[in-house]
Amino acid sequence: MKRLAILASGAGSNARNIIQHFKEHPDVEVALIASNKADAGVLRIAEEFHIDTCLLNQENFTSGNGFLAILKNRKIDFIVLAGFLKKIPAWLIHEYPNAIVNIHPALLPAYGGKGMYGHHVHEAVHANRETESGITIHFVNEYYDEGEIIFQAKAKIDPQDMPSDIERKVRALEIEHFPKVLERLLQQKTKGE
Ligand code: GAR
Repeated sequence: MKRLAILASGAGSNARNIIQHFKEHPDVEVALIASNKADAGVLRIAEEFHIDTCLLNQENFTSGNGFLAILKNRKIDFIVLAGFLKKIPAWLIHEYPNAIVNIHPALLPAYGGKGMYGHHVHEAVHANRETESGITIHFVNEYYDEGEIIFQAKAKIDPQDMPSDIERKVRALEIEHFPKVLERLLQQKTKGE
């Protein structure tokens, strides 16, 4: 059994989709939802599905590492960033090598890096009149959006598309692919052990 923690800062539509995908799954369990925002929608989703939650702060995450004890206590093997907007501290990358995965709402390496998140990404893609965008699922290393790419999927952008249309197309790709890519990755990890 692989036990997942999902880290998210926002509404949590990806988190909800992942939770639903692995509900009753024989080999994977979403065992913890952590957020740096006390009012994040994702914490209400966790409650709805009776999943343990944890609030991340300066003390347990950024300058200290109290969150590690929580991860160990819950026997978490794998961490999923689903709209998590804080930088992952070096101690966590060190503790979970090749076991932290992020989803980014663009085709990295384009439109990545600090400040490139959520609607900012789609606005930049729109301003540059790109003809395609998409999603990137990648391992997390110590540099924002630069870890090894696991999967990408593309969406065509029409000339009349506004940033909100681009977002809608990208979100549809996230919902379609993220849980399946995670499932494949976790299966490979289990086989490789
Ligand atoms: C998603 O579109 C995700 O790709 C993006 O934030 C959104 C979270 O939505 N992540 C980033 O921009 C990371 N740099 P959600 O809370 O509804 O899942």
